[in-house]
Amino acid sequence: MKVLVIGGGAREHALCRSLSLDPDVTALHCAPGNAGIAEVAELHPVDALDGGAVAALAAELGAELVVVGPEAPLVAGVADAVRAAGVPVFGPSKEAAELEGSKAFAKDVMAAAGVPTARSYVCTNPAEVDEALDAFGAPYVVKDDGLAAGKGVVVTSDLAVATAHANACDRVVVEEFLDGPEVSLFAITDGRTVVPLQPAQDFKRALDGDEGPNTGGMGAYSPLPWADPKLVDEVMETVLQPTVDEMRRRGTPFSGLLYAGLAITSRGVRVIEFNARFGDPETQVVLARLKTPLAGVLLASANGTLADLEPLRWSDDAAVTVVIASHNYPDTPRTGDPIEGLDEVAERDAPHAYVLHAGTKRVGGSIVSAGGRVLSVTASGKDLTAARSRAYAALGRIRLDGSQHRTDIAAKVAGE
Ligand code: AMP
Ligand code: GLY
Repeated sequence: MKVLVIGGGAREHALCRSLSLDPDVTALHCAPGNAGIAEVAELHPVDALDGGAVAALAAELGAELVVVGPEAPLVAGVADAVRAAGVPVFGPSKEAAELEGSKAFAKDVMAAAGVPTARSYVCTNPAEVDEALDAFGAPYVVKDDGLAAGKGVVVTSDLAVATAHANACDRVVVEEFLDGPEVSLFAITDGRTVVPLQPAQDFKRALDGDEGPNTGGMGAYSPLPWADPKLVDEVMETVLQPTVDEMRRRGTPFSGLLYAGLAITSRGVRVIEFNARFGDPETQVVLARLKTPLAGVLLASANGTLADLEPLRWSDDAAVTVVIASHNYPDTPRTGDPIEGLDEVAERDAPHAYVLHAGTKRVGGSIVSAGGRVLSVTASGKDLTAARSRAYAALGRIRLDGSQHRTDIAAKVAGE
């Protein structure tokens, strides 16, 4: 099978790594990719938001499956353009991707499907905002309705900060604060059949101890030893299947990856958000544990044949990933700094630990930082303690001037 992956972050590197290990994959392409993906896939320059360009590239390469990684192309309708060109595509249509593209739309679908989520108001003017903030009280949760690359949500006990964020957006969702640990649960669906993956936990704040600003994610681990073993079944029944059924009922079936961001509250599981694609960095640890070859699973979603798929097989190992971010992330990150030590990790830590690239590019003979999140150091082990120590040992060999990372990814859960 010839596969083309669209995107160029650590999530796409994780996808490409798994696809490159799949014996059914005969050729692997990625566009636009990054310096790490170039080691496992052939790269092509493309404007990932241009559906026509992506469809043309897929046709030129004879791709038999296109996998669209990030949300922006999905929300822009890139999967539709590829599908219209007759190429199977993993990823939802533009209309279905609104589950991530509009928080108000997601709330509407959840209400119709009876999916448990925070109570909320959609507000379009300052008077509505004041009323909604007052109704829920502190801590305040204010969400920009549209895509905001992880920067649209403000959770604060400061009324002035909440009001200022709300008034800076056109349309906001103000909602009840959900207490309790967060879980990311991904499911692969073809619009009808839903196949859950293993749950993971993401660390969204920039600094140790969950301090500092929200980011795209600074690390993740899987499995979750503290979670109720029935969690996946419960979320399938109360969240994933009803949402997929409701989307089909509306005539806009959702196929691809449905990401449920969940809060495990004292009153039960609640959806914090949906995303329409694999999460980053959770994908790095979920795919590290998936034993079933990936291409056939993604193709079954694209072709509507998930009901015929064998049950997924998982490793009992644990996986941990730690993100190395550039100086000043998540504000304006500094880029162009050389990265050293990657070869040492490849020599000394593989195959249990490896480096997935996010914002990197090759300049002459060296690899330099090219974005906020730069690398995602991923490791497996018999338990979270072993995986964690391998990840941090590998991370210690990498040098990137001014870079930052959290030192406490999976520390508490590993009992450290
Ligand atoms: P989102 O972009 O929707 O994932 O939100 C980013 C982060 O904000 C989430 O991972 C949570 O940590 C936090 N958050 C979002 N909604 C709520 C809520 N209703 N209650 C508490 N925290 C929330
Ligand atoms: N890790 C959070 C996300 O992918 O949105």
